[in-house]
Amino acid sequence: MNDRMALAINKQINEELYSAYLYHAIRAYFDNLGFDGFSSWMDAQTKEEVFHAEKFFSYMAERGGKVKLYAIKEPDCEWNSPLEAFSAALEHEKHITKCINDLVDIAVEEKDYATRNLLNWYIDEQVEEEDNVGKVVNKLRLIKEDGRGLLMLDRELAVRTFTPDPSTE
Ligand code: FEO
Repeated sequence: MNDRMALAINKQINEELYSAYLYHAIRAYFDNLGFDGFSSWMDAQTKEEVFHAEKFFSYMAERGGKVKLYAIKEPDCEWNSPLEAFSAALEHEKHITKCINDLVDIAVEEKDYATRNLLNWYIDEQVEEEDNVGKVVNKLRLIKEDGRGLLMLDRELAVRTFTPDPSTE
């Protein structure tokens, strides 16, 4: 793997770990509000982000790339409502989708077809990520400040767990 590609993947490892950090912060926000289901959903999301980082990490080793772990920036930790917190998550996922698309551009420019192939998994994953978060945002928009609706959604989101698909490891 050439240096430009390795640098770009190392930056993306940092983006994925920052994602985990951000979702951990959102989880803490929901813990403080006493919403166990929202908190559990964010816990699963946090683990998924660590998995995304680890997948790049392992790939670097396979390709002889040198991993560099950059400092993870501090995420926000204050939101005014569950809708605001999930909207922040959705905006972040859109940012990550752009990062993945930029990585694809670099892989193509560098004729790094193995990395280009790996990135297909992330492209599909981002469709799912934006869809998952976007659906919660839409529900929260409908619920607004309705306490009963929030409690029902909290129960609904409690069932989510994260189990990595062995075929993607
Ligand atoms: Fe790793 Fe949620 O994107």
